[in-house]
Amino acid sequence: MLENVCRQVQSLAGVGHVADYIPALANVDADRFGICLRTVDGNDYVVGDSAVRFSIQSISKVFALAMCLAVKGEALWTRVGKEPSGTAFNSLVQLEVERGIPRNPFINAGALVLADILLTSFDDPEKEFLAFVRELCGNNTVDYNDKVALSERETGYLNAAIANLLKYHRNIECDVERVLRFYLQMCSIEMSCEELAKAFLPFADHNVQFAHAGIELTRSQIKRMNAIMQTCGFYDEAGEFSYLVGLPAKSGVGGGIAAIYPHRYAVAVWSPRLNGKGNSVMGMKALEILTTETSESIF
Ligand code: DON
Repeated sequence: MLENVCRQVQSLAGVGHVADYIPALANVDADRFGICLRTVDGNDYVVGDSAVRFSIQSISKVFALAMCLAVKGEALWTRVGKEPSGTAFNSLVQLEVERGIPRNPFINAGALVLADILLTSFDDPEKEFLAFVRELCGNNTVDYNDKVALSERETGYLNAAIANLLKYHRNIECDVERVLRFYLQMCSIEMSCEELAKAFLPFADHNVQFAHAGIELTRSQIKRMNAIMQTCGFYDEAGEFSYLVGLPAKSGVGGGIAAIYPHRYAVAVWSPRLNGKGNSVMGMKALEILTTETSESIF
């Protein structure tokens, strides 16, 4: 099935552009394609560049939300909403009108608030966050890419504007620069499709507990995280992704998408060329073909 998916998406080769607004990502090989599907009963299926690490970018927001939910519980939702935004991931518009409460944790504004919460909750948040992700994917060599994080900070005027607006509305406690650096550091983590699919398996299989000490989510919290992935994981393309694919998922401008089919599997796909909304062209198509040809989606 995955080989068939891989063959079919080749018709989109060359469509879209890599995320060159992050200078260090502009040089990535645009025509890579990899996919890994891991079932809850322990089978792995891989095709293409499934073992090649790439910048997970906004997919990191799922791990940050898991940690914040574990630490804060329902109190988290006083600082950030859980409604789809219908606007771009880096939009400032709603944040001004809604007085510094981001619509959801998966737009940049929401994830900057998550970064602030982690900074105030852990002595060494960089270390704790990385340890959590390493534990989830079972690989201790997964790491931040400082070059990517720094290059984004140098040109990240929009994120800086969002962070300042949050600070103005008192929804950021820490120093703005510290929050920006930690947020970008989380985005810079590099993982392969194989590692991402493993890290997302606990969201698919409610019986698998998050292994890392201190980060425990109840089954109900996992259900709620999946709901937010479904409604907010693709920004202003969340409706389109639900329509085409029908799985809870999260995308990143590195060209990755991680999705889950509850109680069955986690799947991660990577292809760097993005559409106008910042989502992987081939990645979306691959998941659309997968759920359509298997007739399996949450709908
Ligand atoms: O803050 C940014 O703009 C990037 N570090 C992450 C954005 C992203 O991945 C949006 N995803 N589709």
